[in-house]
Amino acid sequence: MAFTRRLNILGIESSCDETSVAILSNEEVKANLISSQHFHKAYGGVVPELSSRAHLQIVKPLIDSALTMTNLKLKDINLITATAGPGLIGALLVGLTFAKGLSFSLKKPFIPVNHIEGHIFSGFLMERKPEFPVLVLVVSGGHTLLLLVKSLTEIYKLGTTVDDAAGEAFDKVSKMLGFGYPGGPQIELSASKGDETSIKFPIAELKDQYNFSFSGLKTAVLRYIQTNHPSGNISESDLNNISASFQKALISALMKNVVLALNNYKVKSLSLVGGVAANKKLRNEFENLTEKFNVSFIIPSLEYCSDNAAMIALRGYQLYQTGFVGNLNAKPYPSIPENHFLKLN
Ligand code: KG4
Ligand code: ZN
Repeated sequence: MAFTRRLNILGIESSCDETSVAILSNEEVKANLISSQHFHKAYGGVVPELSSRAHLQIVKPLIDSALTMTNLKLKDINLITATAGPGLIGALLVGLTFAKGLSFSLKKPFIPVNHIEGHIFSGFLMERKPEFPVLVLVVSGGHTLLLLVKSLTEIYKLGTTVDDAAGEAFDKVSKMLGFGYPGGPQIELSASKGDETSIKFPIAELKDQYNFSFSGLKTAVLRYIQTNHPSGNISESDLNNISASFQKALISALMKNVVLALNNYKVKSLSLVGGVAANKKLRNEFENLTEKFNVSFIIPSLEYCSDNAAMIALRGYQLYQTGFVGNLNAKPYPSIPENHFLKLN
């Protein structure tokens, strides 16, 4: 009888303002530690140099804690993975270099992982897994992508944003309304008390039908505020109405493309991933599609929606299983390389 050994996989994520270390036993998460750099709030955005320094300080203690939690020693780790990009180069360098150093000294294989691929497959961390082909919407602070995923190695890009990411639009509108960062949760809360039909904000019509654009919507909110509240004083009920109407428009723009893709491609599962997947209205809209299109809906739990190393370790393990061989020359990269994903003709 074939004996299949379980592998202990170490994952390191340091692409932006979260340092995360995870240990998986095959696909099972044993530890997923996340340290968030809240201090960037004071600057209104992530300061790259401060981010790198903070990653450097915390990455080793996080690895030590993950090993203690799982009762493992470094020598028990069989595979080492880290995010190589996209992200802030200085931040990525910390996790990537640490992982490569461990791989070299422990003589264990190393797999560099694309952060977006980590998000795409994060639904596979759940007990109920997506089935191929799966339609995936990635919505985070930095990315908005609609993908048709046919297997572990066949990822087709249907559309992406031509300007702001969905989370970025939430954050920018939040700032206009005087809420703090991150904006998504605060807009969602304010929206829950408002009337989403009170203001008609526009949804962009694009030539490339699966693409997204949110800068027009953002400008429309700004114009509305300037025209209707020139003094800058906005009552709570007006704030709630603006939040609700903005949220409705943004979610409608996302759903329009998702529904179009479901009509054009037969899929078995639907998955919603990334930080904006925390939004309850967006989740409900996805739930509402499952019956009509006869698909299962897989959404990662909240700790796997925002940036985390469990998804990086899982993706590294998947690549390792498909025969991918990483090497220690892997370099960090700031954005998704053109042609990284497949294109449908
Ligand atoms: O994936 P994530 O944690 O970080 C990266 O960008 O990689 O996503 C963060 C984004 C922020 O823009 C935040 O405003 C948004 O996710 N977000 C939400 C909600 N919770 C977080 N957007 C809408 N509704 C939410 N409940
Ligand atoms: Zn992310």
